[in-house]
Amino acid sequence: MSVDVLLGLQWGDEGKGKVVDVLTPQYDIIARFQGGPNAGHTLIFDGKKHVLHTIPSGIFHDRPINLIGNGVVIDPVTLNREIDELKAVGVDVSKKLYVSKKAHLIIPSHRLLDAASEQAKGKTKIGSTLKGIGPTYMDKTGRNGLRVGDILLDTFKDSYDKLVEKHKALLATYPDFEYDIAEWEKGFFEGVEIMKTLNIVDGEQFINDHLKKGAKVLAEGAQGSMLDVDFGTYPFVTSSNTTTAGVCTGLGIAPQHIKKVIGIAKAYCTRVGNGPFPTELDNEVGQRLRDIGGEYGATTGRPRRCGWIDLVALKYAIMISGVTDLVITKVDCLDAFEEIEACTHYMVDGEKMDYLPFDIVKQEVTPIYEKIKGWNQTVTTDIPADLDNYLTYLERELGVAIPTISVGPDRKQIIDRKPALV
Ligand code: GDP
Ligand code: IMO
Ligand code: MG
Repeated sequence: MSVDVLLGLQWGDEGKGKVVDVLTPQYDIIARFQGGPNAGHTLIFDGKKHVLHTIPSGIFHDRPINLIGNGVVIDPVTLNREIDELKAVGVDVSKKLYVSKKAHLIIPSHRLLDAASEQAKGKTKIGSTLKGIGPTYMDKTGRNGLRVGDILLDTFKDSYDKLVEKHKALLATYPDFEYDIAEWEKGFFEGVEIMKTLNIVDGEQFINDHLKKGAKVLAEGAQGSMLDVDFGTYPFVTSSNTTTAGVCTGLGIAPQHIKKVIGIAKAYCTRVGNGPFPTELDNEVGQRLRDIGGEYGATTGRPRRCGWIDLVALKYAIMISGVTDLVITKVDCLDAFEEIEACTHYMVDGEKMDYLPFDIVKQEVTPIYEKIKGWNQTVTTDIPADLDNYLTYLERELGVAIPTISVGPDRKQIIDRKPALV
């Protein structure tokens, strides 16, 4: 029937996994369309925490199907580990997880190349999650990659060996980088065997057949709009299109199927890894946000950089993806602030701007803030007037309604302000 999209509007970790989990019962299929195990999507319910990297965040519900689309890059090692972790908590993926034949494989030498490239960059490194994302997408666009469908062919080992040979030649250009690929390969081939037992399908056909039969699909984004390879803070980005456009290429669906685009943003802002972050607070306020928000990476454990909400970047992300509904998460993390701030403009070269300039990497950007009165109380079920004022202010500035807010990490900690999101 239709596809709704849910994606992050900042630099990732906006709470996408949690909101997908909350919305899953309204859908028939939850589909990841890009990224790979660089993602870490946290879900908390019944007092337990689960972190997903490759598997869509709908997996804990019984009925809906979860699809890993062609736009995703899959590391069989991580996928295998995720499947095991799910098994340990009683989730059997065999009937509800489907994988597109056209999704590309991350092989051990992709991870080595990622590490070698980052090491060689030194101070200018991207701060990659080192999961092999960049080299795998490079092989995809360079037309060298291996895909999930290839593991079913007799020629797979040959194709694998040929690609590894190419990678070894590339690794030789990093003389300071030492590696032992054999150590990594055992887990890889074990993972490949497990993958063969999954439902491997022609993802684009699968999803379109379901749409024809009236299915409702939720496309789950990974990373965030400011990490998009085209529209993010290049080159400090990931290697996929994290914005709505990525849904069409990452699942094989036509744009007219897309209905709602649900943008997820934190009530403040974080970034993990290097690159520009205009509203970063390298002070005690930033540390306070990190402490209250538990801002440490779900994939790498790295401390996240923290700062005030950036309306300039948010407006841009909303424009690029055609966001129709906004969910503000981690509202509870601002409960104790007397006053909060929102960046409304950037000063660049003496010019006041309300849109994102071409380059915020080399150009100095000074944020201009508006101060907003805090609500100064714990929010659980009812929205206090001062919080409602803040949300109305955001709606006015951003031009998008905020029907729902998240006030804690648990599945139940969510409040509908207006008619429910879906
Ligand atoms: P994702 O990558 O967008 O799915 O987000 P992550 O899971 O990487 O990071 C979000 C973190 O915030 C996780 O630890 C979540 O459990 C937590 N979280 C999500 N929503 C809320 C919320 O509304 N309040 C609080 N305090 N934590 C939240
Ligand atoms: P989720 O889906 C936050 C960041 C990395 C690095 C840059 C490139 O959990 O929101 P990569 O490994 O893709 O080559 O890293 O992108 N990054 C993320 N930051 N959340 C993520 O995913 C991220 N995935 C990648 O830290 O700066
Ligand atoms: Mg995350």
